[in-house]
Amino acid sequence: MDVMTAVLTRRSEHQLTEPAPCDQEFHYLLRAAATAPDHGRLQPWRWILLRGAARHALADCLAEEARGTGRDRIAAKVLRAPLLATLVFAPRLGHRVPEWEQLAATSAMAHAMMLLLHGRGFGSIWRTGALADSAQARRLLGLRDGERLLGWLFIGTPVRTGAPRRRPPQDVTGRVTTFTGG
Ligand SMILES: Cc1cc2nc3c(=O)[nH]c(=O)nc-3n(C[C@H](O)[C@H](O)[C@H](O)COP(=O)(O)O)c2cc1C
Repeated sequence: MDVMTAVLTRRSEHQLTEPAPCDQEFHYLLRAAATAPDHGRLQPWRWILLRGAARHALADCLAEEARGTGRDRIAAKVLRAPLLATLVFAPRLGHRVPEWEQLAATSAMAHAMMLLLHGRGFGSIWRTGALADSAQARRLLGLRDGERLLGWLFIGTPVRTGAPRRRPPQDVTGRVTTFTGG
């Protein structure tokens, strides 16, 4: 799949099933994704993978935190994909490369990862919401001080009920101006 096709046909996949990439394949793709632009080559991120029963532990933890309101909905949400790849932003604080640039590099790597997954026939969706702010989830997953939970890539094989949802590129000419120097 060429890059243009990959970019134009990748969509967030809400329904995902087995198979998901195994650890070895995840690492293989991540090595490529990690070549995304990264000022200072700091790799200010890490991933925590959850499969099988580990997803249930996260679901239980988040449902517990919800205390009644939407417990089942939250639990069901977490179990919607065979692989949950937790994206942790681990900035080098005080480094000459400012934190926002490190976050931008992390985002670039994550997008590359989604495109690479798509290119291999896997689907993904980046999910955040209230779950990403959960103190319980931070504790459960062992986040360190200064680290930020950026959410999860839900990964698996898309369950397609119809044709792939291709989004025609929008007219973005209004988002571009040319400074002519005057
Ligand atoms: C940082 C980030 C957080 C996101 N969080 C959520 C989320 O919590 N729930 C969700 O359904 N989609 C989430 N998305 C996916 C976007 O909703 C999705 O990319 C957007 O609707 C465009 O759809 P597409 O990816 O199919 O082109 C997130 C995307 C990004 C980049």
